[in-house]
Amino acid sequence: MPKVKVALIGVGNCASAFIQGLQYYGNKENYTGLRNPSLGSLTPSDIEVVAAFDVDNRKVGKDLAKAIFAAPNNAPKVAEVPSTSIIVNKGPLLDGVGKSTKNIVQVSNAPDANVAKILKESGAEIVANLLPSGATEASRWYAEQALAAGCAFVNATPAFIASDAAWAKRFETAGLPLVGDDLVDQVGSTALHKTLLKLLSDSGVKITETYQLDVGGGTESLETLDRTREAKRTIKTQSVASSLPYKAEIVAGSTDYVDFLQNNRDSYFWISGTYFCNAPMRIDLKFSTVDAPNAGSVLFDVVRALKIALNKKLKGAIMPVCAYAFKRSPQMLPLETAEEMFKTFIKENGSA
Ligand SMILES: NC(=O)c1ccc[n+]([C@@H]2O[C@H](COP(=O)([O-])OP(=O)(O)OC[C@H]3O[C@@H](n4cnc5c(N)ncnc54)[C@H](O)[C@@H]3O)[C@@H](O)[C@H]2O)c1
Repeated sequence: MPKVKVALIGVGNCASAFIQGLQYYGNKENYTGLRNPSLGSLTPSDIEVVAAFDVDNRKVGKDLAKAIFAAPNNAPKVAEVPSTSIIVNKGPLLDGVGKSTKNIVQVSNAPDANVAKILKESGAEIVANLLPSGATEASRWYAEQALAAGCAFVNATPAFIASDAAWAKRFETAGLPLVGDDLVDQVGSTALHKTLLKLLSDSGVKITETYQLDVGGGTESLETLDRTREAKRTIKTQSVASSLPYKAEIVAGSTDYVDFLQNNRDSYFWISGTYFCNAPMRIDLKFSTVDAPNAGSVLFDVVRALKIALNKKLKGAIMPVCAYAFKRSPQMLPLETAEEMFKTFIKENGSA
């Protein structure tokens, strides 16, 4: 079985978790912690990173194995990663750094690489966009490079690409698959919030107000606060609202950055409602996770599902993958429906 060849755009915390995960799960049969040990016939050891791009001086020109542990990355180290012989290339900065992270990211003055050419030469077939949220122009620029190099594209960021009909059409015309936007977490606060609300409303509870707010310490939390707080709030709030069959007061989104939390995230849930004879009920909950590893299992699923889509020559926005693995899919579906669609997609297309 040929490898799933992936190029990473942005060697930040998510990329660190992804590469460490490949090492962690690559040489053993213990897949505890993965949602899908195998998809079709693909396991994590079938995934290979073949190229990577960043702008930070401490990452550009370095072996990927070193770059993933360079500051300001603060995802925990869980695996020793031997030299990869993949050297991080310098991509164009565009809007990759916001005003609050400009003192954190040290932009390299190395010349920009020819990204499409490197993608082609590396044999990459899938480009995974892991740029900071807010880097909309840069995300779209890399989507152009993927088109030029004939690669499928994963948009893990909240920039509107897969959910933009014009972009989906461009990938369809090029005969390439596209998925996005804004990756869901493996154990995500949005999914937990939706599940709690559905459970309560299915039981006859009338939810009156609910919020879910996050505090984190990764660079991405700072970016979100600065550049995409409102967009993230809209995406999350709409997603949560879709789990209730009636209107309620809902607020969901990231709220603040606390540097000493490092790559950890605290998610606060508040749910207020009434049940039999207007009796009141309230949930007040805190949920703590580590941010970057929360993207790993879903990214493993997404790149393997895209390989399956490529094998079957599927093109444009691949709805079962978008709905299963992204918060802002071109079509918003209930969690169970999305899960079912994804399973059917793998079953019908996954055999070699
Ligand atoms: N659990 C998760 O971590 C999770 C879940 C869902 C979505 N996401 C999304 O994944 C993305 C990445 O998150 P992260 O925590 O790894 O962010 P990060 O800030 O740690 O990493 C971003 C990387 O991109 C680099 N970069 C900036 N501009 C660039 C450019 N023009 N070209 C190449 N590289 C550039 C930065 O130097 C940095 O290394 C974000 O958009 C985030 O919203 C993450």
